[in-house]
Amino acid sequence: MTDLRVNLAGVMLKNPIVVASGTFGFGHEFADYYDLSELGAICAKGLTVAKKDGNPPPRIAETPSGILNSVGLQNPGVDYFCAHEMPYLKQSGTKIIANISGNTLDEFTELAEKVSAAGVDLIEVNISCPNVKCGGLAWGTQPESAAAATAAVKKAATVPVIVKLSPNVTDITAIARAVEAAGADAVSLINTILGMRIDVNTRRPVLRNNMGGLSGPAVLPVAVRMIYQVACAVKIPILGMGGVASGADAAELMLAGATAVAVGTALFQNPYAPIHVRDELQAYLEQHNIPAASALTGAVMPY
Ligand code: FUM
Repeated sequence: MTDLRVNLAGVMLKNPIVVASGTFGFGHEFADYYDLSELGAICAKGLTVAKKDGNPPPRIAETPSGILNSVGLQNPGVDYFCAHEMPYLKQSGTKIIANISGNTLDEFTELAEKVSAAGVDLIEVNISCPNVKCGGLAWGTQPESAAAATAAVKKAATVPVIVKLSPNVTDITAIARAVEAAGADAVSLINTILGMRIDVNTRRPVLRNNMGGLSGPAVLPVAVRMIYQVACAVKIPILGMGGVASGADAAELMLAGATAVAVGTALFQNPYAPIHVRDELQAYLEQHNIPAASALTGAVMPY
């Protein structure tokens, strides 16, 4: 039997397939389709200190091989999550990752303290949301602010901390190195790529927020490139994401340097996508006589 287990920053996942934040809610809707314990981990919808309604609609637009979203961190707030969603998630039989977004360093510390106390297994620090005016991407475009957000979370977290990086930067390796130096236990990448569509008949942007984040198969080659670059630049593990829709896509991100892989946008087409990706990855490993998924990480042979 192929060993699908991977060690993500000291947390053992039963398989490398995670569901990406913002694409799986808090899991309820998907439990009708399969047992959530089949997943390597669930990364919950991004949390802020106060409840947020998000941006006005339209906030989703289809694009060739992807979608643009400008959801704007809609969520019930961290206290609601800890009181009402964590009891459900904790009994799901898989690892739980809380994704947190602060407007200030104090908010990052408060969020880390609260989700740690609620029993999450890992924290993903969102310094890369392109859809909010305050916080979000503003943290993730400079090494200094990215490091400050990381340090604020590390101060309060009692579980390993993953920092989610933005592709909307000149040099992602500089940000990755800065958060590693600030104590990050892992990085995740890529968040969405800032994009825009215009309705040529109305001359209005398709999204009410004008711009949004592009995800889906269209971004996969960018994710592979950035994961490869970051893997060459830091020693901490990588949770890779960006357009993964098949076992071969997951293998590609792992060969580039990812320890585990998140499936996101594919869930909007097919709720079974992470299960199919896991099974196809296992078939790929068996076909190539690779006894352990972990052997794929960083095994690309560059020219
Ligand atoms: O708008 C959103 O909720 C997206 C968040 C993100 O891309 O991190």
